[in-house]
Amino acid sequence: MALDSNPDWWRDAAVYQIYPRSFADSNGDGIGDLPGITSRLPYLKRLGVDAVWLSPFYPSALADGGYDVDDYCDVDPRIGTLEQFDQMVRALHQVGIRVIVDIVPNHSGSGHAWFRAALASPAGSAERARYIFRSGLGPEKSQPPSDWTATFGGSTWEPVGDGEFYFHLFDRSQPDWNWDNPEVQAEFKRILRFWADRGVDGFRVDVANALAKDFSADPLADGERLAEIPSGPDHPFYDRDEVHQIYAGWREVFDSYDPPRAAVGEVWVDDPARRARYATPAGLGQAFNFDLLLAGFDADEFEAVIQANLSLAAVTGSSSTWVLSNHDVIRHASRYGLPDPANPSQRRDTGRHWLLSKGQEPAEDVALGLARARAATLAVMALPGSVYLYQGEELGLREVADLPDAVRQDPVFRRSPGYDVGRDGARVPLPWQGDGPSLGFGSGLAHLPQPDWFRDYAAAVEADDPDSVLNFYRRALAARRDLLARTDVAASGFEWISSPAGTSHWTRGPWHCLINFTRLEGLDLPPGRLLVSSERGGPAREELRPATAAWLLV
Ligand code: GLC
Ligand code: CA
Repeated sequence: MALDSNPDWWRDAAVYQIYPRSFADSNGDGIGDLPGITSRLPYLKRLGVDAVWLSPFYPSALADGGYDVDDYCDVDPRIGTLEQFDQMVRALHQVGIRVIVDIVPNHSGSGHAWFRAALASPAGSAERARYIFRSGLGPEKSQPPSDWTATFGGSTWEPVGDGEFYFHLFDRSQPDWNWDNPEVQAEFKRILRFWADRGVDGFRVDVANALAKDFSADPLADGERLAEIPSGPDHPFYDRDEVHQIYAGWREVFDSYDPPRAAVGEVWVDDPARRARYATPAGLGQAFNFDLLLAGFDADEFEAVIQANLSLAAVTGSSSTWVLSNHDVIRHASRYGLPDPANPSQRRDTGRHWLLSKGQEPAEDVALGLARARAATLAVMALPGSVYLYQGEELGLREVADLPDAVRQDPVFRRSPGYDVGRDGARVPLPWQGDGPSLGFGSGLAHLPQPDWFRDYAAAVEADDPDSVLNFYRRALAARRDLLARTDVAASGFEWISSPAGTSHWTRGPWHCLINFTRLEGLDLPPGRLLVSSERGGPAREELRPATAAWLLV
């Protein structure tokens, strides 16, 4: 099956996120690589996804898992070569799977040639003007220009030794680009073309809401005041209106290809309505909706998120995205097994990674977490829009909470020792077999150690169990593909059906999805043909058990 020519493929795609270093290692050096991905093509095909999104595989010092890019137009030698990239894309396309690459336009790595040139050039030079350099304060110019705190901790300003500081929103090895500079604007269009010309079908845009910056209004704003400014037009860097001019320019690049290249922005903003601005056809086309990462396993919360996002998609002419896990957050099988925070303001932290602070890991109800994860997954796969899956969730992997400090790699951990363990727990290399030095990931030891319990979750072990999470994902994705191809589904809108408290029920024509969020009560199923159930050992036809979901054809 080759690629179809549908330019709207992204609107309802099932996209599988690959974190290349942790997917499959072809040469036994402990690091996942591109030939490893190509070797697992039958697995991806059998899983039934429409596209893969690759987290960065570019040359990088790996100060932030590859999100510190030293060369945007090459492959890190530890991960492969450009030839191997081309082979991988060809092979994926041959089996009908599209390829999305990650573009990191807010910052480069500090090893980027342009950043090295900036450091080697004097204050006021054209080289420095590609990044954000400012003079230090005080008689010696030794004080940072403001006391803002970077996302990973510490100051946003790093001194370079001559009275100037450069700005970094994330790690100090991730200097922010100056998007007011036409050279930077042109360079990123060149980078987009470089990958589009190689056959890449789409782009995931990292920190898409932070590119446009304006420090002129109050350059000395103190950190506390900054923290009070909501993201939006008044914030010096998060979600300013000018950022959309950049994406209007990118859209011209995307649309110069046939089919047009797709894009999805990573957009964490305070007001979900403003996220829609990134998702218009004149902009990136799609933006990640992370609202379910922050929602509890709760009918009212799910329904509110679903309703709000379907309405936003209708307004912008985009399609919604649904995300339960990615490389930055606690895996949803763990998130749903953790006690719900008593204080809803901690929710945001639960959705991301802070809850697993060192030494404070709360007890996890493994069976409940997994049952809820299966149910939530089936629910989001039944929603209009595209669904983004993160490698390993199809095996039911949980967060690896107990990695030894010595092996942790995430700068989030290093910048906050003893407080925040960071994101490595969601990035442990996949188990492919129940035995072997790295459980089939490769022939050597994996770059992050796999816990013993990973054996039971290995792809080969699960493949033999009809009730495994893997076979459940395969069934659900296959059924979803069939359902989306039906004219009576395509012609029908989304409709809520009233259902008892603690449960949700919606239809898309003959396709019904029911989900039972309660802990105790069963839910009677309407008459119809049961297509897929999230229940292990199920389906029990008459009743939808607590923490399960089902699809029916009515
Ligand atoms: C995005 C990435 C995250 C990275 C950050 C800085 O949020 O998803 O992994 O650390 O950007 O590039
Ligand atoms: Ca390798």
